[in-house]
Amino acid sequence: MSRKTIGIVGARGHTGAELIRLIANHPSLALAFVSSRELAGQRLADHNDVYKGELTYVNLDPAGVAAEAADVVVLALPNGKAAPYVEAIDKAGGDTVIVDLSADYRFDERWFYGLPELYRDRWRGEKRISNPGCYATAIQASIAPIKDLLAAPPVSFGVSGYSGAGTTPSDRNDPEKLRDNLMPYSLTGHMHEKEASRHLGLPVEFMPHVAPHFRGLTVTTNLYLAKPAKREEIANRFANRYQGEKLIHVVDEAPWVSHIASQHHLDVGGFTMSADGRRVVVVATLDNLLKGAATQAMQNVNRALGFDELTAIPV
Ligand SMILES: NC(=O)c1ccc[n+]([C@@H]2O[C@H](COP(=O)([O-])OP(=O)(O)OC[C@H]3O[C@@H](n4cnc5c(N)ncnc54)[C@H](OP(=O)(O)O)[C@@H]3O)[C@@H](O)[C@H]2O)c1
Repeated sequence: MSRKTIGIVGARGHTGAELIRLIANHPSLALAFVSSRELAGQRLADHNDVYKGELTYVNLDPAGVAAEAADVVVLALPNGKAAPYVEAIDKAGGDTVIVDLSADYRFDERWFYGLPELYRDRWRGEKRISNPGCYATAIQASIAPIKDLLAAPPVSFGVSGYSGAGTTPSDRNDPEKLRDNLMPYSLTGHMHEKEASRHLGLPVEFMPHVAPHFRGLTVTTNLYLAKPAKREEIANRFANRYQGEKLIHVVDEAPWVSHIASQHHLDVGGFTMSADGRRVVVVATLDNLLKGAATQAMQNVNRALGFDELTAIPV
């Protein structure tokens, strides 16, 4: 069988680079193009430790991307930049699958919201897939198994490594400003608060922070329960919900972010109860560049092309 082709727009960025590593080990996918304005003309192999081929970066505009007629286009661009590429690909007709890593289509009913472990059964063969946010993935995984037991909106406290802020220079990815620091931001109304609330179908309150480490995030969620529960009941809910899921591990102890860096799965656990059994605290960790972005995109690409969802993902 000939390989399916995949192109990446925004291939210089953190998430694009991780996706290239996954594709390099995929038995049925070949990179068609890698687009970057800054690296155009340079050899991909000089910038990626896993890729061994001859491809060079190109700077493609939306019409140029559509003209490549790849089987899959992944948009790994900052928020607000996807539309011209989507329009050009739509206009070209054809069967191209688009996976968008930004937040631009996460609220669009016409697009499948690709968090497979929670919403796989909602997939109707869409060729337009919005890849969930990194924090939003961890928040939803921490709440979904017990959302029918809740008495109040869950409150999530998040701490991410600074690769979550991309490569465009800002305070939130400046190692000097982050040294010995924890930087709170967007403490109400963060995009991932809206995203998790919408897809879970209940209000979530989320308070993000950036820390000095590079990759990996922690979300600690406080959940009030309508009726007192025992720890075992809560832990069983999670174990049953994620049974057989290779990329969501239910763990007994609250997980540590240092153990999840460069791993493809999400850890969720802790399940610390209040003395009266009416409150539980759940901790989730994931690598924001992997299960929070590239690995999840790979799951979505595999699904859309009819491959096993975990192809090329080390589990
Ligand atoms: N980082 C994470 O942990 C994470 C997790 C989940 C989702 N996401 C989302 O994934 C997307 C990519 O994130 P990232 O962290 O990989 O970002 P990044 O490291 O900042 O990379 C952005 C990429 O987009 C290109 N680019 C920037 N502005 C552009 C424009 N106006 N037109 C065309 N290309 C442009 C850049 O390359 P050139 O400047 O060379 O063209 C670069 O390759 C974002 O929407 C982000 O919110 C990120």
